[in-house]
Amino acid sequence: MCGIIGYIGQREALPILLEGLRNLEYRGYDSAGIAVCDGTTIRIAKRAGKVAQLAAEVEHGYFPGTLGIGHTRWATHGEPTDINAHPHTDATGRIVLIHNGIVENYAVLKTQLEREGYSFRSDTDTEVLAVFIGMLYERLGDFELAVRTALQEVEGTFGLAILSRDEPDMLIAARRGSPIVVGIGDNEYLVASDASAIVAHTRRVVYLRDDEIAILHRNGYVTKTIGDEFIAPEIHELDFELEQIQRGNFPHFMLKEIFEQPSTFRDSIRGRLLIEQGNAKLGGLTPVAAKLRATRRIILTGCGTSWHSALVGEYIIEQLARIPVEVEYASELRYRNPVIYPDDIVIGISQSGETIDTLAALREAKLKGATILGIVNVVGSTIARETDAGVYLHAGPEIGVASTKAFTSQLAVLSLLGLYLGRQRDLSVGEGFHLAYELSRIPDSIARILDTAPAIEQIAHEYADRSNFLYLGRGVNFPVALEGALKLKEISYIHAEGYPAAEMKHGPIALIDENMPVVFIATRDEIYEKIISNVQEVKARHGRIIAIATEGDRRISELADHVIYVPETHPLLTPILTTIPLQLLAYYIAVARGCDVDKPRNLAKSVTVE
Ligand code: G6P
Repeated sequence: MCGIIGYIGQREALPILLEGLRNLEYRGYDSAGIAVCDGTTIRIAKRAGKVAQLAAEVEHGYFPGTLGIGHTRWATHGEPTDINAHPHTDATGRIVLIHNGIVENYAVLKTQLEREGYSFRSDTDTEVLAVFIGMLYERLGDFELAVRTALQEVEGTFGLAILSRDEPDMLIAARRGSPIVVGIGDNEYLVASDASAIVAHTRRVVYLRDDEIAILHRNGYVTKTIGDEFIAPEIHELDFELEQIQRGNFPHFMLKEIFEQPSTFRDSIRGRLLIEQGNAKLGGLTPVAAKLRATRRIILTGCGTSWHSALVGEYIIEQLARIPVEVEYASELRYRNPVIYPDDIVIGISQSGETIDTLAALREAKLKGATILGIVNVVGSTIARETDAGVYLHAGPEIGVASTKAFTSQLAVLSLLGLYLGRQRDLSVGEGFHLAYELSRIPDSIARILDTAPAIEQIAHEYADRSNFLYLGRGVNFPVALEGALKLKEISYIHAEGYPAAEMKHGPIALIDENMPVVFIATRDEIYEKIISNVQEVKARHGRIIAIATEGDRRISELADHVIYVPETHPLLTPILTTIPLQLLAYYIAVARGCDVDKPRNLAKSVTVE
């Protein structure tokens, strides 16, 4: 969602802030702003639009100072206008802040402040917070105390970076619900919503926990609770390189990340496959091994693409381990007072580890006594820290808003988990060996599919002008149909729907005519004959058929207008392969339509608000 960057140190703040904002832009980006303090004055610039527009304006302006904050906004309260962009100030202009999250009681606070005679320029909840802190500062005469006092009154979520004109050697950061990481340099500190904004400057970081604040001076810092209890900071080392958040020679991060999948998949299974024993070793689950053996139910939860991987996980785990699995949208699970048993295992799947609905669903499950686990990509993220145990994806930073490599790594981890749970139960060494061996071959198979990218690009050009797409799959490839449709929607703005193929005749078949492209995931497996019948139903109605099929399948080429082949693998692993052509198809269609692939409209990478 919104991105936050802050700097206090010896160097000019402006270039550091702008660079940080560029690295954060993928999170959310309908407006951007900066504030820089030179010791006596705080200069602010903010505007609707992309960071590049803000940068073009301020790079030639006068923004001296070694203390500053910057923000990219994803609108919640109020439209993306110059006025609603952050930073926001209090009534005097002394207090300047940027905010990620939602102040839920902003309307009550605003009314109280209006009664006191304060007025507001913007429609945002953030300005209310700025004015509230300003009022308390006026009364209490102490910047830090004013911030802490205000935050105790706030309901909702915040990741904050705050300056005061009266305190040119102080930057305050605070967190509840929205991530804040403090970067520790030599006589300088950075604050960010995401480590990618600061990795160029330091690898040593402290992650704030909920209701904690950091008070940063040029020569030192403290962390405490908003209730004023000191906390010994825990320093972590960042585990990724700057190059990983750069595009290299690729035109878009999304394409780079699609092409990284042979190596990111390998990283996800590295050291975790016990091929000879037909098993998997997941060190992060050791503390809960006994609970995993005893459980009678697993609930998988997540949002967006992570929810799709949970659906695939259901097929994998149920088939390998015969444990009942339920999959639920985190946003539903958190509010519907679910029936949870103490021996349930509830697993949150999340690339970012910060998605607020997933986090809240896990908290709800924990409250009800379940063991909660995380399958997460971002090391040190909130879900990773709050869960009882978990497995990291090790896919490296994912910058493209449309998730690609994180999805295939989630499927890698779910396959390993299924294998492990299966071997704890009835899965034989032989069956385990087959799956483990096939998992080890997946990276090479992904690479072979990527070699067919030019042919997929051609198909994309043929269909880029269509207004609708249908994606159909069955069994473990039904969720791939959903994911393929989601990818296309997200980045090309074409309406697309995914369905279990057999459901087509209960509704979507009415849509089929010669203008409707239908993407079938039709790999050779037990239900191949069934899906061939569905293909024939579409053909009879003159729909255009793009089939994803197993290498060597000649039969389907007689029915389909286009066939994209994927290598043969274990049937449960086919989604990892069939999803690759769908990522490429969506990508090339979006590019052909002139869409901004890495920054699709209205979307954000990490959704830290409800
Ligand atoms: C956003 C992103 C999606 C992502 C979803 C869940 O909507 O745009 O790509 O799948 O959030 O994110 P998570 O970080 O929890 O996997």
